[in-house]
Amino acid sequence: MATYPDNFMDQLVSLAKRRGFVFPSAEIYGGVASVWDFGPLGTLLKTNVRREWMRRFVYERSDIVPIESAILTKRQVLQASGHEGGFTDPLVECTVCHERFRADHDVPAAKDHTHQLTEAKQFNLMFRTHAGPVESDANMVYLRPETAQGMFVNFKLVADSMRMRPPFGIAQIGKSFRNEITPGNFIFRTREFEQGEIEFFVPPADADLWFKTWVEHWQEFFGHYGLTGDRIHLRAHESSELAHYSTATSDIEYEFPFGWSELAGIANRTDFDLKQHMDHSKQDLRWFDEATGEHVTPYVIEPTLGIDRAALAFLVHAFHVSDGTDGREAGEMVLKLHPRLAPVTAAVFPLVKKDGLPEIAETVMAKLRAANLGYVQYDASGSIGKRYRRHDEIGTPFCITVDGDSKTNHTVTVRHRDTLKQDIVAIDELVTYLQNLLA
Ligand code: GAP
Repeated sequence: MATYPDNFMDQLVSLAKRRGFVFPSAEIYGGVASVWDFGPLGTLLKTNVRREWMRRFVYERSDIVPIESAILTKRQVLQASGHEGGFTDPLVECTVCHERFRADHDVPAAKDHTHQLTEAKQFNLMFRTHAGPVESDANMVYLRPETAQGMFVNFKLVADSMRMRPPFGIAQIGKSFRNEITPGNFIFRTREFEQGEIEFFVPPADADLWFKTWVEHWQEFFGHYGLTGDRIHLRAHESSELAHYSTATSDIEYEFPFGWSELAGIANRTDFDLKQHMDHSKQDLRWFDEATGEHVTPYVIEPTLGIDRAALAFLVHAFHVSDGTDGREAGEMVLKLHPRLAPVTAAVFPLVKKDGLPEIAETVMAKLRAANLGYVQYDASGSIGKRYRRHDEIGTPFCITVDGDSKTNHTVTVRHRDTLKQDIVAIDELVTYLQNLLA
């Protein structure tokens, strides 16, 4: 079992605010419970998570294409998918204080506080609104509760326009909304969040094999960006836990400071969604299998993850407070984020603000920006030690110092965040040097 110091989450939440990762939303008005805004560094971190996901699953493959479907979702879509009828959590209410709880998760805690609870009733988690100036049933739309349905209703259009045939996937990153009864644990469970989902359409007979393949891809993905060891594992759902559309689901769980919790999932959604949409829309969404001469409804394997939740797992995994034995002073904080996820990829420091060093630092910045290595920051204030500490706290993997040798020998010093190792690198070779480390 992983151990975290008692105040671990408090320290992380405080660092996240102080250094511009995550802010309470509308804080100047007192904030909104469980609603968060991403600050500059949180935005860069999430952009990097999205970019790596897109790179590995879209750009580096020829069998997955991206889409971006609308958040406002026609009611029939979510009637067909089963969400309007069944996307519910059991809700109980205290008849004394009127606080509401999820009957399946929060009741033990609620009972401790001597609440008097009602019988559980099913509460639908979808947010509703109206498209247009009239609030009537006819123009009621939902904010989508998952990005998945946008990929099912566009399946045929994508297949035809991109000339794709199963096995192939559609990938989408975007916001989803759930009116969670009890959101919480910082950005872990919120009512507005972002998902990265792939709907991978396969011949029915190959579904089990593709399910295994995607479990492997998923584990490899998180491992590549540093989530390894005993804080991450795979958990297969019991049949009683399976969603209405699924015959098999496995969660990738991470041991957060508040316990083991779902980070991402892989589900075999069978042909449930496409069949439902065919039934309700009266459109034929099958594909014609030329090999067998038959029309087939593909099965769907769905690897899904929450982008905000992944950002939290990466932050938790990366957050270290020095005990003074690692070359840092006790109490100093460092975020050991994977270099491709770190919000600031490299920081460039002129040793002093004179002797032509700022000008050389600017040319180094320009080279790094032109090479598109990631976000690069210029930092000229305070001692070098202070600048290193500032960048350790936000996880900058490479700090590049321009000093007297930069003028005479055309070199810079690259300091590595995790090992504290320093390398002297020729300015002309710096881009290649960093590209190798970021590969
Ligand atoms: N399309 C399938 C689907 O939506 P899910 O397990 O309900 O499955 C997928 O959600 C992922 O979305 C979860 O693994 C989690 O990472 C993220 N997620 C779900 N609800 C969330 C919430 N309220 N806040 C933040 N992330 C959430």
